Amino acid sequence: MHSVTLISATDFAGWRRAARHCVNMDVAPEHISWRVQGDVGSLFDSNLSSIEPTVESATAFTVPRSFLQLAELVILHRHAARFSVLYRLLWRLQREPQLMTLSVDEDVARANAMKDAVRRDIHKMKAFVRFREAPFTSPPRLIAWFEPQHHIVEAVAPFFMRRFPTLQWSILTPERSVHWDLKELRFGTGANKSEAPADDAAESLWLSYYASIFNPARLKVHTMQAHMPKRYWRNLPEAALIPHLIANATSRTEDMLHRTPAEPRRTRRPTRSSRTPSAAVSSNGDQDLDSLRTAVQGCRDCPLWKNATQAVFGEGRERAKIVFVGEQPGDQEDLAGRPFVGPAGKMLDRALVEAGVDRKLTYVTNAVKHFKFEPRGKRRIHKKPNEMEIAACNQWLQRELLAIKPTLIVALGATGARAVFGRATAIEKNRGRIIPSIEAAGGVHTTDVLVTVHPSYLLRVPPEDKQSAYERFVADLKLAQGYAGKR
Ligand code: URA
Repeated sequence: MHSVTLISATDFAGWRRAARHCVNMDVAPEHISWRVQGDVGSLFDSNLSSIEPTVESATAFTVPRSFLQLAELVILHRHAARFSVLYRLLWRLQREPQLMTLSVDEDVARANAMKDAVRRDIHKMKAFVRFREAPFTSPPRLIAWFEPQHHIVEAVAPFFMRRFPTLQWSILTPERSVHWDLKELRFGTGANKSEAPADDAAESLWLSYYASIFNPARLKVHTMQAHMPKRYWRNLPEAALIPHLIANATSRTEDMLHRTPAEPRRTRRPTRSSRTPSAAVSSNGDQDLDSLRTAVQGCRDCPLWKNATQAVFGEGRERAKIVFVGEQPGDQEDLAGRPFVGPAGKMLDRALVEAGVDRKLTYVTNAVKHFKFEPRGKRRIHKKPNEMEIAACNQWLQRELLAIKPTLIVALGATGARAVFGRATAIEKNRGRIIPSIEAAGGVHTTDVLVTVHPSYLLRVPPEDKQSAYERFVADLKLAQGYAGKR
């Protein structure tokens, strides 16, 4: 009997080296005991011959890529049997190369179930981490408390780093903590819930936002609980509102049906200009579009302001049901200070007319508010904004959405979709359907979303595909109009 002691619960490299070595030595799965450094040992430990997970195997062999991808996730499962389940699969693969295709096989099924559980946990962590501002820290530090089911902190941390690159934050969990200091991710030991702030100044704003976007007419308690299982509720500030919102859903729906349509709210003129973005939020938490439009001109959160003529904020109806989110202003938009007025805007206008959408009743904006370009002679050539720039600008988009509270967001192209979902989102795979808010809720907003291509794509497609690409775009816009028009 042999033992392998891995240096940590997620030591995939160590498991892989030791497993290769054991396969080469033809050690049967039942003859290996896998453990993690620091685990309490058994009475029989001293009888085991130890295999170091640092040994490099002399003979190389290959395994299907799908197995390695599976193993990388399974190793994050919290069940102690994960190492031996994986080793048994690896060992059997040498004799049964098609093993991974047999989904009914007991080992394959068990590993797949572990992988699915880890994936779900990763998804929940991305959706349900809630940051709060730590008191008395300068610069401000955001801290979140989360209780994952599996060993996923290292796997999820880069997601939060990409999403909040310009903020200093920590995520504390019972077994692991991770800290982002604007330069690198640092991992540490577990923490106690009492080390995370219980509340902060922004919380009441977030709670009133959550309550205001909760649509009682669309309440489906089972779907809601399936997406937000109760075990996560204790760490979600908005969960405290849910029983009350559910209890009042019926009367609120009836009230909505009987209420007469109200006049749109009048916009307030900004009373002072501002250089700093945070000045857009007045002391009572109010954020109207005009003051945001003024404040964005002072934004210095990424370097794009330096070469642009001005920030181009969104424009349209303050109470629009549909908000279109493009990429960034182009050359003409940068000069005019208005979104979608150049060639892509003309294409959008034409398709909107054909789809029966009145642009004046919608709101049109961009993921990034400054024009990014490369000078070439007298021309300014459009350059795609990078992830950092999109993340730095996302606060403005979120504030626009918070002010407008649309029924539907239409993400135009990959950059728009990244800004809306907070992650890379395939356009072709996701277009043509309304993505319910709960699925799209990676960001702060919880509005339903439709993704489609960017109108500039229609200017670039080969001539033979132009008509069909245009018709599909119009069909997407009709879907948006049909959906938002009914709500
Ligand atoms: N492309 C965009 O994404 N937005 C504009 O405003 C113009 C072109």
